[in-house]
Amino acid sequence: VAVLAAAGLPAWAADGKKLVLGFSQIGAESAWRTANSASIKQAAKDAGIELKFADAQQKQENQIKALRAFIAQKVDVIALSPVVETGWGTVLREAKAAGIPVILTDRLVKEADESLWASFMGSDFVEEGRRAGRWLVDRLKGGKGDVRIVELQGTVGAAPALDRKKGFEEAIKAEPRLNIVRSQTADFSRAKGKEVMEAFIKAEAGKKIHVLYAHNDDMALGAIQAIEEAGLKPGTDILVVSIDGVKAAFQAMVAGKLNVTVECSPLLGPSLMQAVKDLKAGKPLPRRLITEEGVFPAEVAARELPNRKY
Ligand code: AHR
Repeated sequence: VAVLAAAGLPAWAADGKKLVLGFSQIGAESAWRTANSASIKQAAKDAGIELKFADAQQKQENQIKALRAFIAQKVDVIALSPVVETGWGTVLREAKAAGIPVILTDRLVKEADESLWASFMGSDFVEEGRRAGRWLVDRLKGGKGDVRIVELQGTVGAAPALDRKKGFEEAIKAEPRLNIVRSQTADFSRAKGKEVMEAFIKAEAGKKIHVLYAHNDDMALGAIQAIEEAGLKPGTDILVVSIDGVKAAFQAMVAGKLNVTVECSPLLGPSLMQAVKDLKAGKPLPRRLITEEGVFPAEVAARELPNRKY
């Protein structure tokens, strides 16, 4: 140990013990989430970090329980993907009091005291919403008449649901004839996406729905099924705009059923493990590490599909 320490290794590496990371995952609601969990598990293995993985099945109370268990187990670092933005103050203060740093991944929390978390890594969800909105404004430029949009929101109170709504609404203001006529949560899941879209179609009987904006691909894919079952053509009769960029969305674009997906990368594992190591080595972490992402319209889907990693 003394020899290793003299070589300048941080204490945790020199004492030969594996770093322990407790990770509280939201659930398995979407293909994005599945890819995110796989990325984190693989990266922990590659980095030689012991991962304690807890799936909260979409419930904040389960995440709070998992965090308390990690604190009791005295893990080195806690990583949290918070299902909703608020309600984390108490448990984060408990982690702080125990001297365990918390890294937020994927989603941010809304807490006035930002010292409760060490770093955030993930996407700019407001910008994703803007990108979806801008794509639509561009696509419909020069046209006439009202454009009636239905919106499938993500989980109530979740950062990507709130932010993607905000960014999209901001962007479509550029074209006042674009209006959201119905908006409801479908919890980021394919099954609920189908269910809520069926309800939208029923409620809008006799009126035209021009566009579906879904806060993620899974909900869009469920809605596409509902549109087809109603005898309409997704991608043509109703434009379909969504977010994530999962493989199934690219396949739907190749099939002409989805018009655009705004990328949101779930491949956060390697950056998270690097941050865990840096943290324990006493290196400063960036407050926010924002992923670089693109926009993929149907025209490029066939070319891009073989390159997709999730
Ligand atoms: O927080 C990221 C979002 O959560 C993804 O867009 C969605 O698919 C997931 O469930």
